[in-house]
Amino acid sequence: MTPIESELTQLERIPAQIYNSADDACQTVADAITDLINERNAANKQTVLGLATGSTPVRLYRELIRRHQKEGLSFANVITFNLDEYYGLDGDHPKSYRKFMQDQLFDHVDLKPENTNVPDGLVASEAVFQSCKAYEDAIVAAGGIDIQILGIGRTGHIGFNEPGSGPETLTRLVTLDRLTRRYAARDFLGEANVPRHAITMGVGTILAARKLFLLAWGEGKASIMAKTVEGEQTDTIPATFLQQHENCFFCIDQAAASHLTRKRHPWLVGRIEWTEETTRKAVLWLAQKTAKALLKLVDEDYTENGMSDLLIEQGFAYQININLFNITQHTITGWPGGKPDADDSNRPERATPFPKRSLILSPEPLDDVYCLGGTINRLKQHGNEVTIAYQTSGNLAVADSEVQASIELMIELGKDRSGKADLAYPKTVEQQLKDKGAFGADTAEIRHLKGLIRRSEARSSGRTLGIDTANLQFMDLPFYEEGRYRRFIVTETDVAQMYQLLESVQPHQIFATGYGHDPLSVPALSFEVLRAALKQCADSEWFNDCNIWLYKGPADEWEAHEIDMAVPLSPDEFENKFQGIYQHQTQRSQSPGRAGNKSSNSWDLARDINRGTAEIYDGLGLAEYEAIECFKRYNK
Ligand code: GLP
Repeated sequence: MTPIESELTQLERIPAQIYNSADDACQTVADAITDLINERNAANKQTVLGLATGSTPVRLYRELIRRHQKEGLSFANVITFNLDEYYGLDGDHPKSYRKFMQDQLFDHVDLKPENTNVPDGLVASEAVFQSCKAYEDAIVAAGGIDIQILGIGRTGHIGFNEPGSGPETLTRLVTLDRLTRRYAARDFLGEANVPRHAITMGVGTILAARKLFLLAWGEGKASIMAKTVEGEQTDTIPATFLQQHENCFFCIDQAAASHLTRKRHPWLVGRIEWTEETTRKAVLWLAQKTAKALLKLVDEDYTENGMSDLLIEQGFAYQININLFNITQHTITGWPGGKPDADDSNRPERATPFPKRSLILSPEPLDDVYCLGGTINRLKQHGNEVTIAYQTSGNLAVADSEVQASIELMIELGKDRSGKADLAYPKTVEQQLKDKGAFGADTAEIRHLKGLIRRSEARSSGRTLGIDTANLQFMDLPFYEEGRYRRFIVTETDVAQMYQLLESVQPHQIFATGYGHDPLSVPALSFEVLRAALKQCADSEWFNDCNIWLYKGPADEWEAHEIDMAVPLSPDEFENKFQGIYQHQTQRSQSPGRAGNKSSNSWDLARDINRGTAEIYDGLGLAEYEAIECFKRYNK
């Protein structure tokens, strides 16, 4: 470690290596696993791996499969133990962790089936203790775990060791936390369907492994990551107990690292270069920390918060304050498409051309209205040509009960027409629904119908925002149509479709999301497709004259220093946005959730988020608005 690094990382209690991408991080971990397996194989010894589920390790497993298929890495002498399993699900259940492991790793490498261990989710309640003890004994009998792979849950859980789990805990039956169940809601099409209990290795079981790699990607993990790496050990965040382990390494991407002090408040741990960007970040943070309006910050605020060198460089606090006040004020605009015939030198969006062709990219129906419903409405009212493109159909997020209701409607309609209508289609889908059971994979027909349901909601929502159906594009990108959660793979076909859309719209501005999200999530993959398509458009004339505005996504919001355009909404506009959101009936219970949020469902969360941004601007000493939607400029 260089001296600068050690100064910057002085608050960190677990070595955290930050990578540019999840794939880079996975290479390192795959190397460690490969080296160990090869070394053990050469000595004719077995390797014991502890494995995890969730989106996080999927890319690692893909890399291990690649090495097996292309580079001859053999798992014939490997024994695996998985961290956990939902209680009440059998191994064939599509949502069981056993099934997940079969699909994502076991079925694609030469692991012996009898060498793969996942806790038994079906063990009778009176036999749970024995079964858990047997799991512990099996780990010991195998010689202990050599390398344990871990992800981290939003509550700071490892495995399913929820808050309250101490460092001595062993394999046992646990009750799942509300937030954890909310996050799993998508997998189970509704929080109510998520099992309430799980069997998990304990924190003590995990700490007994010889080496640990914890992986984390995306901004959704940034906050819990910082608490785990820099906070005190506490059973309210069981992952902090990893600080006790001498051979534990965190391999994380830039987004997951973004709340570590060295990234978020580097001026608190060392000298930094004061650029326009770092100054903005630091001063807006200072104002919020001291709960003072920007123009009320005084020299002492700067000196007491690790920023005296900035003061020396730039003179008096007031000079810095006024500069930042102006920068922040200039982010505010009621004209997200640019104001024609106005001086635009201090406006986020340029005045000409006008009207603009504005392309709103929504990974799934709902993201658009949820994150920028007010802005879309304004763009339209100002006369811009607004196109909303839904990158995916979102059909995986529709519950079967919605399909059943639509089928019944179709059948009723048929009857009204005195039997003339063809009922073959609804009857077929109804039968398929029965055949697949609650969690079976949807047939093509069911997925199609679910997609149509979301289309109809998107149309209604569009109308509420003033956007005609003719201006909605349903792209149904193949990566989504042909995949399932955590199993999506982007191909050239997706990129070609996006390229076509861009070239046909030739937008002056694009609103998109997915940047910095968990790399396997729908928004992140949709953004990856956009990025690849934009590359292909680089020579097109429209490309150089196109601004890209990023919206953050449904569960979160940009921080003050990241906001380049803030669009205030009046109470009426804000209410109208919610009328648009309410058109997405099927999504009401599919809450994204976020740590610490007070809201009981996703609809209220959007209120908190937009009002929260308005409060931040108010607190900084700018105007007081009802709500604000905000965007960050993306440099193509
Ligand atoms: C579940 C699993 C954990 C996993 C966590 C995070 O709770 N039991 O082992 O780390 O989810 O999941 P993801 O990787 O999808 O963010």
